[in-house]
Amino acid sequence: MIVAIDGPAASGKGTIARRLAAHLGVAHLDTGLLYRATARAMIELGHRLDDIEHAVSAARGLALTDFDEALLRGREMGEAASVVAAIPAVREALIETQRRFARRQEGAVLDGRDIGTVICPDATVKIFVTAAPETRAQRRALELAGRGERVDYASVLEDIRKRDERDSGRASAPLKKAADAVELDTTQMDVEAAFAAALALVRAAAAKPV
Ligand code: DC
Repeated sequence: MIVAIDGPAASGKGTIARRLAAHLGVAHLDTGLLYRATARAMIELGHRLDDIEHAVSAARGLALTDFDEALLRGREMGEAASVVAAIPAVREALIETQRRFARRQEGAVLDGRDIGTVICPDATVKIFVTAAPETRAQRRALELAGRGERVDYASVLEDIRKRDERDSGRASAPLKKAADAVELDTTQMDVEAAFAAALALVRAAAAKPV
């Protein structure tokens, strides 16, 4: 079974995906980390984020096992990731790695922006997680503060809006709900409620005859 979870920044998709994978006993890939790690490699090597050639080789050089999340999860890297993710050749360079991950025999949960539309169009179940921008900004601000980053809500909200615009407006694999995805609006839900709703969707899809 392949579970595809897409949605905008701080919608709760990562938490839902992680919880689903643990519950189902399958592997989870947070594909945002691929773009974050590509951006970080570019910054470390002193390349501009729009340097296509170096961005593609940074993307090709990634190993799925060695993400240092403490370095990748910050606000600055989310912004930078959104910039390199708009380069079609970078996306192309990362497609096969993601599809290989999804093909594992026991199944997998992948979360990102284009899992249901581009990476795994045949996924068993597709969930498009959303929440109001203000709610997402509150969640992200709490998360960043918990990580020790100094943040203020207004600039986090501005970041969220900017990223929504860039991720949805780009020409290559923009953030959008797949036609056969189910939308899960988590604005009024806590983590437990969102997880329960997602699990119900997975169970319903798994019970369907193929
Ligand atoms: O989910 P995240 O915040 O870690 O993602 C960081 C950026 O990476 C996001 O703004 C857009 C990009 N991204 C993408 O374009 N496609 C994906 N499948 C995952 C992330």
